[in-house]
Amino acid sequence: MSKRFLLRDALSQFPPYVPGKPPAGDTGLTPYKLSSNENHRPPLPGVTEAVAEATQTPAAYPDPKSTGLVADLAAYLDVDPAEVVPGAGASEILSALTNITLEAGTSVVYPWPSFEMYPILAAARGAEKRAVPLLADGRHDFAGMLAQIDETTRLVLLCSPNNPTGPSVRTEELEGFMAEVPENVIVALDEAYWEFATDAEAVDGLAAFREHPNLVLARTFSKAHGLAGLRVGYGVADAEIATALRQVVAPFSVTAGAQAAAAKSLARTDEVLVRAKEVAATRDQFAADLRDLGFDVPDAQGNYVWIALDDEAAAAFEDACAAQAVAIRKLKGGVRVSIGADEALDRVRAVAADFAAGR
Ligand SMILES: Cc1ncc(COP(=O)(O)O)c(C=O)c1O
Repeated sequence: MSKRFLLRDALSQFPPYVPGKPPAGDTGLTPYKLSSNENHRPPLPGVTEAVAEATQTPAAYPDPKSTGLVADLAAYLDVDPAEVVPGAGASEILSALTNITLEAGTSVVYPWPSFEMYPILAAARGAEKRAVPLLADGRHDFAGMLAQIDETTRLVLLCSPNNPTGPSVRTEELEGFMAEVPENVIVALDEAYWEFATDAEAVDGLAAFREHPNLVLARTFSKAHGLAGLRVGYGVADAEIATALRQVVAPFSVTAGAQAAAAKSLARTDEVLVRAKEVAATRDQFAADLRDLGFDVPDAQGNYVWIALDDEAAAAFEDACAAQAVAIRKLKGGVRVSIGADEALDRVRAVAADFAAGR
């Protein structure tokens, strides 16, 4: 690496964040992007109008405290406004959490494979990364994670439903885990996809937050609310932790348009949840079809399905989908397919059928 500038040596150790590929544009087919777990439907009525209204004076900074959105979220969640921290997506909340807990000499424990930002954020803070392999069925290995927690551990990251493999953390699993984790160690429950979960035993993050002051929730408007492009999410945390988070979240990071859109969409949460359940029904059918073809598909609880494949097969599957103008996501150990338009999923089904037939 060039040494012209005094950059941190650790930068060369950061795992790269690889965003979902756009679909190939040269097939003559309508292209579909099923590689970033985006919502394929537009935001609810009134949301884009709220953005237009709120962004009429782009020269002005937004409300730095997102006062209206925080009040609405606190009312919706039935928590104190002091426990709500808005940010530019759940990503900013996760980044802030690593910022208030990690430094050289500390460690962070997280499941793997999981959201790709976790090792990047850990590396950025100079902390030791303790990635604990998932169980064979794509679930968190809570016993394995407990075994990795020691006096250097400042943060544990959990992902429910887990991206990319799909299962939700279950109430019993979380309760058993929290009973063993030291009460001064912060446990973050990343609930980016909670609205899509239909597992009756899936953890209710809010209920768990009320029981465990060291549990912090990270949530987003990017997925079920369909506002990924606007960058807005929030943390729910004990007031002491929330105060620390606010110290490191970038000022004005949630734009006026994002605040307005989130507030408008939050007011229509009932409709968001209906749509999320529609996505879940499509997901369940898609997963069942793939399993019928003989693929190893773990319990899918987000707006995506994981197909476990060896790396060579995963690359071939991704290429075969790309040839049908569908971008999916190859990761280590398989491919992840976001739930999208029926036509796109049908093309992936056809690719899967060809694979299963050995064509
Ligand atoms: C598990 C998980 N957490 C957090 C995020 C970040 O979402 P955002 O920053 O858009 O809110 C993502 C995005 O894909 C995710 O998959």
